[in-house]
Formats: sequence, C-alpha cells, structure tokens
Amino acid sequence: MWRPPERIKWSPEPGRWPSRREAAEASLFQPVDIGPLTLESRTWVPAMVPWRATGDGIVTPEVLGWYERFARGRPGAIVVEATGIRDIPSGPLLRIGDDRFIPGLKTLVETVHRASGGHTRLLIQIIDFLAIRRRPRRDRYLGEFLRITEDHRERLDAADWSEGRIRARLAELDDTELSAILSPREYEALQMGYRERVTDLHLPHIRALPEVLPDLFADAARRAREAGFDGVELHYAHAYTMSQFLSRLNDRGDGYGGSLENRVRLPLEVFRRVRRTVGDDFAVGCRYLSEDCVDGGNTVDDSAWFGAAFARAGFDFLSLSRGGRFEDAKQPSVGAAAYPYTGPSGYECMPQYVSDARGPFGRNVEPAAAIRAALRADGHTTPVVVTGGIHGFGQAEALLRDGKADIVGFARQSLADPDWFVKVRLGRGDEVVVCEYTNYCEALDQKHVPVTCKLWDRKRRDEPGVRMTADGKRRLTAPLWEPGLDIEAALASGDGKARRRLS
Ligand SMILES: Cc1cc2nc3c(=O)[nH]c(=O)nc-3n(C[C@H](O)[C@H](O)[C@H](O)COP(=O)(O)O)c2cc1C
Ligand code: SF4
Repeated sequence: MWRPPERIKWSPEPGRWPSRREAAEASLFQPVDIGPLTLESRTWVPAMVPWRATGDGIVTPEVLGWYERFARGRPGAIVVEATGIRDIPSGPLLRIGDDRFIPGLKTLVETVHRASGGHTRLLIQIIDFLAIRRRPRRDRYLGEFLRITEDHRERLDAADWSEGRIRARLAELDDTELSAILSPREYEALQMGYRERVTDLHLPHIRALPEVLPDLFADAARRAREAGFDGVELHYAHAYTMSQFLSRLNDRGDGYGGSLENRVRLPLEVFRRVRRTVGDDFAVGCRYLSEDCVDGGNTVDDSAWFGAAFARAGFDFLSLSRGGRFEDAKQPSVGAAAYPYTGPSGYECMPQYVSDARGPFGRNVEPAAAIRAALRADGHTTPVVVTGGIHGFGQAEALLRDGKADIVGFARQSLADPDWFVKVRLGRGDEVVVCEYTNYCEALDQKHVPVTCKLWDRKRRDEPGVRMTADGKRRLTAPLWEPGLDIEAALASGDGKARRRLS
C-alpha cells in the first residue's frame, strides 16, 4: 500500500474510557432513526469483505461465524460486505443476484439477530462492478491479446506487414517506444491489466448500464428484504460502477455523464427503482465518497451537492467513505489484478499508522461534517455515517456532539475488537483491544484470502471449536471476551463488573 512520504509513525490514542454511567448518557449510545428503522445506538460496523463465501458466492459457516462474532458486541448496525448483484462468478464474494442465494442470506440474518439478542440491525451492501483482468505477461499481450489495428500499422509505417511481423516488431520495442504505438488504453492494459470503465460507450453492455442496473439493484434489494435484512446500502463508493458514474471523471455523452445532474441521474434512477420495489418501510441508503481523492475527481462540493440530491430523493441514510479508486492504483505484478486501495486514494480510504502530519485518525471527519452541514442547510435531516480511523470513545462522542455526523462507523477497530461497543457500555473500555492500524488485515483482503486481525489470529488457537484458515495457522474470529459472560444480563444489571461471570 502507498504511504505518505513523510513516514510519520502514529499510535492510536483512544483517550479516557467512560464510566458505565457516562456511557449510558453518551450520544453514541442513544437511538437513532434511519428512515423506518431505529438503531439502538449510533454505532455502525461498515462493510468489510472477509473472503469467506464459497466460490459460487454462497454463505458458508465461516461467513456466519464472522458476522456472529461482530453481533456479540452489539453495535447499532452491521453492514454485510459488498455483495454482488449479478449472477456471475466473482470468487469468494457473497452474491445476491438470484433467488437461490436467499436461504443462505436468511440464515445469516437469523444468526446476527440471535447473537446480538435482537439488538443489532443488519443491512447488506449491494454492489455492481465492471470487468477487470490480471496484468498480462508482455509476450502474451503483444503476441496474442492485443488486437492489431490500422492505427498500429500507420504508426509503425507497416501498411502491408503481416500481423505476425507487426507483433514481432512490437515485442522488440522498449516501453517508451511502445507507448507511442499503442493507444493509452492498450498501453494501460499491458501495464496494469485491462479494466472497463463506465465511459466505454463503444461497448454495448457498458452503454446499456443505465437500462440494466436499476432492475439488477432492485431485484437484489427485494431478495435482501425477503431474506429478512433490515435494510440495504447501495454501494456508490470507491472504484466501482456507481461511483464511476458519480465521478467528475465520468464524461459519458449520453446524458449520464458530465454535469452533476447527469452524473447523479443513474444513482437516483437505481434508488427510485429500489424504493418502488421494497417500499417505504425498508431502509435504503447508500455509501458514497466524501472526496474521490484523485486528480480531477469529486471534491466535497460535488459530494455535498449529491448528498442533497440523495436526501431529496428519500435515501434513509448516507454513509461516507473516501478515496479507494483505480485511477491511482499501484501497478500489480504480472498475473495479479490492479487493486483500488494501493495508491494515495487507497490510503485515504484505509489510512494506516505510517502517515503524514495529519495522521491516520479521522481524516474523513471534516469532509463528512461539511457534507452534513450542507444537507442541514438545505433542510434535510438524513442521518450521516462517518468512518475512518475512529477508535476512541471521546473521539466518537465529540464528533456526534459537535454535529459532524449522526452515526459513527468503526471498521478495523471492530475487527480488532468486536466487543468494543459492549465493553465501553459496561464501563470496561480499558479492556478494549485497540486497533494499531497496521493494515495487516487489508493486505489479506488484497490477496483475496480470509481476513483476520494480527492482534488475535494466533491467540488461543487450541480453544475447542475454533475455526482456522485452510493452512491451519490463523483463527478466523476473535477469541471470546470472557466466554462465560452473559452480555444481556451484564448490560441489564446495575454493575457490569459485579455480574461479570454469569454462566
Ligand atoms: C478488510 C476490509 C474489507 C473492506 N471491505 C469493504 C467493503 O466491502 N465495502 C466498503 O464499502 N468498504 C470496505 N472496506 C472499507 C471499510 O468499510 C472502512 O471504510 C475503512 O476500513 C476505513 O474505516 P476504519 O478506519 O474504521 O477501518 C473494507 C475495509 C477492510 C479493512
Ligand atoms: S490487522 Fe487488526 S490491528 Fe491491524 S489494522 Fe487490521 S484490525 Fe487493526
């Protein structure tokens, strides 16, 4: 992953933990409505892909174990990982592109509701993404994959050469010479791997996205509702299809690119179709970017404008992330695909402890606050979720108190310690395992192998019933905090400490 050149090392600073009474009175643990849904607290576990589904996108016992572990900590809401809306193979990513996925998802919902004692609401993030290929070997790309065109012949002054001779000539060129003969997209396909964009209007299936996506999203949302989820989060963030539509870099000339109005057109059409399908009594929101964090991409002003458009349309919540784009991704090694979290914008999305003078904690807070302020100025009360480097109670509480957000997302912190929420509520915050923001977990994500945390994946591996990775080295979920603890009773009792060990 890219890191700021300043290389300043930061340590997490959770600050003082509240007493049980302070926690009970804190804004963080007060209820909040997201449209038709009430969350018991303003705590939120944002989507995190753990790479545990089957190759066919079906829920596995490992998927259930992952979400069950988060649910035991009783956050206000958990958002299930980015789940594909198309019925196409996508590796061990969850899918919701056909009714056959509903039974597995139903079990997932039941698992979370049971493990949280019915206190945590469960949403699912639904995503569309475009094709991306692995970076090819140079010889195979120039010898086989590249389509030889008239442009190549012209630039090589080789009008009557055979295709074989042209390929042989291209193979002799160095990268600088080659970049003058290939088109920018062909050169990019060689260096990074081929990647589709929403602006590829020469491709019929890309041209047709505005016709097909509203139904694909709406069908997925209908399945989510049938599976028993409490709501859906439309994935309009990071490098994926809908975020590409929203971006300033989208110059589609068919009425779906260019101006703000045109860029938001499809995201609104998708929302309206989803809403019509699932009704008003099912929470529908989206995750989108406070800033693209790439040259020429969206700024906070664009995102504030989109936020108001989403609020006017009736979105129940807006969850803000930042960056995570393909445009500045690192060159992958041959045989690997480009990954959108490897460049400076990826750093903004998941900042780690080696940072710049601003540090990795709360980089999304001020942009989110500006967007929320613009929404409120426009008369909208839509709740805003902010995420990014938040790990301390004081930090979370202050941003709610100061009106910078309505709900606080804890992604890596809840991976490091899924019991953060219950520990803090019980006045036992000093027992929290604080995330070190090393991005060990993110490196696993990038390799598409099961995500775990370095603070616990080698601990207490001999406990009965512990599920391990296929190589037997890492446990798949955090060890239980006080296995005998009856969380329901401890929360209900006057003194969490006095009733620690209920069996
Ligand atoms: C392993 C991993 C997987 C992630 N998967 C998703 C995802 O599926 N969808 C999404 O919107 N964000 C995803 N994210 C980003 C997080 O939701 C979050 O925005 C980011 O980690 C910054 O928040 P944090 O500092 O609290 O971790 C992922 C992050 C991690 C670490
Ligand atoms: S591996 Fe654990 S400690 Fe490191 S960033 Fe991920 S969640 Fe935090």
